[in-house]
Parts: sequence; C-alpha cells; structure tokens
Amino acid sequence: MGPYAPGPEHTGFAAAEIDTSRPHPARMYDYYLGGWDNYEVDRVAAERVIEVHPQVRLSARANRAFLRRAVRTLVGDGVRQIIDIGTGIPTSPNTHEVARETAPDTRVVYVDNDPIVATHAGARLTNTAHTGFVLGDVREPRAILDHPTVRELIDFDRPVALLLVAVLHFIRDDEDPAGLVAAFAEALPAGSHLVLSHATGEPYEAYEGGRTDEVARAGVEDVYKSATATLNLRPKAGIEPLFGPFALLEPGVVRVPLWRPDGAVPSAVELNDTIFYGAVGRKG
Ligand SMILES: C[S@@+](CC[C@H](N)C(=O)[O-])C[C@H]1O[C@@H](n2cnc3c(N)ncnc32)[C@H](O)[C@@H]1O
Repeated sequence: MGPYAPGPEHTGFAAAEIDTSRPHPARMYDYYLGGWDNYEVDRVAAERVIEVHPQVRLSARANRAFLRRAVRTLVGDGVRQIIDIGTGIPTSPNTHEVARETAPDTRVVYVDNDPIVATHAGARLTNTAHTGFVLGDVREPRAILDHPTVRELIDFDRPVALLLVAVLHFIRDDEDPAGLVAAFAEALPAGSHLVLSHATGEPYEAYEGGRTDEVARAGVEDVYKSATATLNLRPKAGIEPLFGPFALLEPGVVRVPLWRPDGAVPSAVELNDTIFYGAVGRKG
C-alpha cells in the first residue's frame, strides 16, 4: 500500500482492510495506554508482554510524557513545523494539540504505516487546519519527504522538528536505522531537531538492584516476533549513534523521565522499569 493522505471525502479505511490476524504494535501500544482501538489478537499479545514486563504501561505513559515535554520545549524555542513519524493511534493530547497550546499556528504532518492509524486520523488528527496524515513507512524517507501532503504543509527552508518517538526499535539493524535518520536529516535545514525515543533491554545504570532481565527481554522480543513488526531493543550505545548529524541537547540520551522533567523524578526502581531512552538533537 502506498502513501495515503485522507481527504475530506475519505477519512479512513474500510474495516475489511484492518488485519486482525496478527498483533499490530500500534494497537498493542494503544492497549498499554488504556485505549480502545485494539483487537483480541492485540490484547492477548499485550497481556503476554505485561506478564514478562509488568511495567510496560508505566513505560508507555513515560514515553508519551517525554513526547509532550520535548514538543513543548521545541515549540517554546520557536519551531512551528513538525513531522511525527510512527504517530501511533491518536491519544490525547496528540502532537498538534501539545504544540498548539504554545503556538496555534504550528503545522503537523503525521506519518504511520499502520492503516488503523489512518482510520482514526481523519476524526482525531486532521480534523483541524494545518495538519495532515500520510500512510507511509519510515523505511522509505524519499516517499515521505516527497509526499504532496508533506510538501503542502512543510516548508523545507525553515526548521522542522522530526519526531521518531518509539518507532526505530521496529527497524532491524539490516534496515539501517541510522541511515534512515541520515536521509531525513539531509532534507532538513540547519536549526531542525530530532526527537527520538527507543526501547532498551539495558538496566538503568544507577539502579543497584540489578535486573534479572535477560529473560524478560527475550520474552518481550519473542511476543513481537508474531507481530507485524519485530522489536529490536538496543543499548544506549546503540541508540546514541542514531542521532547522526543532530547534536544532543542537554541532558543527552537518558531514561525518558530524566529528560527535562517538569515534576518529581521517579525512583531508581521505576527508572529501571521504564524501558525507553530518549533525547533531542539539533542539526547545526
Ligand atoms: C509504540 S507506537 C509509538 C506511538 C507514538 N510515537 C508514541 O511514542 O506515543 C509505534 C508506532 O510506530 C508505527 N510504526 C512501526 N513501524 C513503522 C514503520 N516502519 N513506518 C512507520 N511507522 C511505523 C506503529 O504503527 C505504531 O503506530
């Protein structure tokens, strides 16, 4: 299926096009977040993940909170255009809603390769001016960058915030995640930013309890083997290089609750249970 932008006359896919034979990461994540846009096959798989990693819901919520803080920070610094790849099933507040609390004129293009996200995009993401949705794959940067909806909404002469939040762990090493980021980076002008988060199997460095986690890690990866995209957990040392030309802003790559927290910082145990690293980088 090629890139697709729902217009006013076509806001979604027919139910028949939604594959309910295999778990979909977008729908499993929706289940972790307490959403309703998931199917039995997704709930069964998600429950298996919860069995081996009971804190996955905490991780999902912390990841969403990181996205909100990063978007607020960048929009507060003047960014007015966002490309959010691996959007996920809409969950309030969505990226454009967060951005528009600060700057109502912010333009946002959402991109996801799962038709279920397209199904909900018309009603919950693109029902307002200056937002668009593209059914596209992060593994095809050119198709995304050249898509008419992207070209219409994004001015590539002005800084852009590229969001790759909780998506690159669905890209295998042989699909070259760093090369994909570099391809997007090349199209963006100086002053653009990358917001990235990524799941890990690594214990939190300051947690001394140690994690008996090789089992959990293998268990979680195992569940995703039956899903439409495999999970590729990476250590911090494998995530930092993904930033390529984007210089890391303070505090660098950290467990997501530690990225410029706006409230109390979780305990070391909770940080250990939060399996996402995140950071923001700037292209000079
Ligand atoms: C875990 S959700 C993250 C949603 C949101 N970015 C967040 O962090 O809250 C991952 C999303 O990435 C999407 N995704 C997975 N592989 C993708 C690919 N190759 N291209 C585009 N989107 C992809 C999934 O469909 C899903 O919606």
